[in-house]
Amino acid sequence: MSTDTIPEKMMAIAITEPGGPLVLKPQRRDVPMPRPEEILIKVRAAGVNRPDVFQRIGAYPPPKDASDLPGLEAAGEVVAVGANVKRWRIGDPVTALTAGGGYAEYVTVHESNALPIPHGLTFTEAAAIPETFFTVWHNVFQRGQLQKGESFLVHGGSSGIGTTAIQLAAAFGAYVITTAGSADKCDACLKLGANRAINYRDEDFVAAVKDATDGKGVNVILDMVGGDYVDRNYAAAAEDGRIVQIASLGGPQSTVNVSRLMAKRLTHTGSTLRPRSIAFKGTIAAELEERVWPLLADRRVAPVMDMIFPLREAWRAHERMEEGDHIGKIVLDVS
Ligand SMILES: NC(=O)c1ccc[n+]([C@@H]2O[C@H](COP(=O)([O-])OP(=O)(O)OC[C@H]3O[C@@H](n4cnc5c(N)ncnc54)[C@H](OP(=O)(O)O)[C@@H]3O)[C@@H](O)[C@H]2O)c1
Repeated sequence: MSTDTIPEKMMAIAITEPGGPLVLKPQRRDVPMPRPEEILIKVRAAGVNRPDVFQRIGAYPPPKDASDLPGLEAAGEVVAVGANVKRWRIGDPVTALTAGGGYAEYVTVHESNALPIPHGLTFTEAAAIPETFFTVWHNVFQRGQLQKGESFLVHGGSSGIGTTAIQLAAAFGAYVITTAGSADKCDACLKLGANRAINYRDEDFVAAVKDATDGKGVNVILDMVGGDYVDRNYAAAAEDGRIVQIASLGGPQSTVNVSRLMAKRLTHTGSTLRPRSIAFKGTIAAELEERVWPLLADRRVAPVMDMIFPLREAWRAHERMEEGDHIGKIVLDVS
């Protein structure tokens, strides 16, 4: 490991207490030391995700052994490598899924959870990729088993997750339907490759999905809403449909008609990425690099950039996210 130019201290954004965006404050912290299988990244940009907001308000504590600092993804240059690191060399540009700690000038990550920056992407674009691409790959393609020629519904189509899910599902040959809360958001989703965008404030998504699929319903649903959407998802699903739950923004409790589940032979599953093992995340990274990185390098798929804020103003980034007007990803510039 080389430590020549690495300072002992760094600037990081800490959650000083559970609360609103202003509890995010710059702090001096020790630069983390990479373990034998880890790399140290000099962060150039860090992605902001809704789970960071939940962590900030005290509703999503970091897993044991993870940094208490927020930040689930970061891009930058490798500046030190642990003794057993095989793939990376000092100076390599990488983007990585982190278990926390992305809102900082330096972060450590297991070497298998880092990926090369796809050709032609900036650090800010690269930092906007890991959290949503890992989540969508696992939940839509591994768990939901979305196949070419099938139909797919993603709720929250203009979110970081939604914009990724629309593009990947379309790129892999699915018929894509999405819901969003305004005409502008629906337009953005159509431009990204959705075949049909439903403004859920004006239209009942179950009826619209049935209409768009000749009454059959959709094969796979990615849902971040939960609450009363669960039963409506059962209604919007096709026979043998797969519904994958990744959040419950509309509430965790739900009343469902289980007869529908049986009659249509539905599968309702779900997952959360952050607590999964490094090895599991490494397998997703490997699949993404093989199947999705070429699409990013060709610009057939790209992170949708909403706004970029300086690291010190992370609180503004959270404000922007909580206002709910963003389309795509909010990123912190750490240069
Ligand atoms: N399970 C996992 O592994 C995992 C990983 C990453 C993220 N997530 C979750 O995925 C969700 C999206 O994350 P993100 O970072 O992409 O967040 P984001 O960009 O802030 O998106 C949230 C979206 O949810 C929609 N929304 C919010 N409240 C809603 C409600 N009550 N009913 C309907 N739609 C609602 C909003 O769209 P409208 O304005 O159109 O309503 C918005 O586009 C978050 O809940 C996050 O916690 C889960």
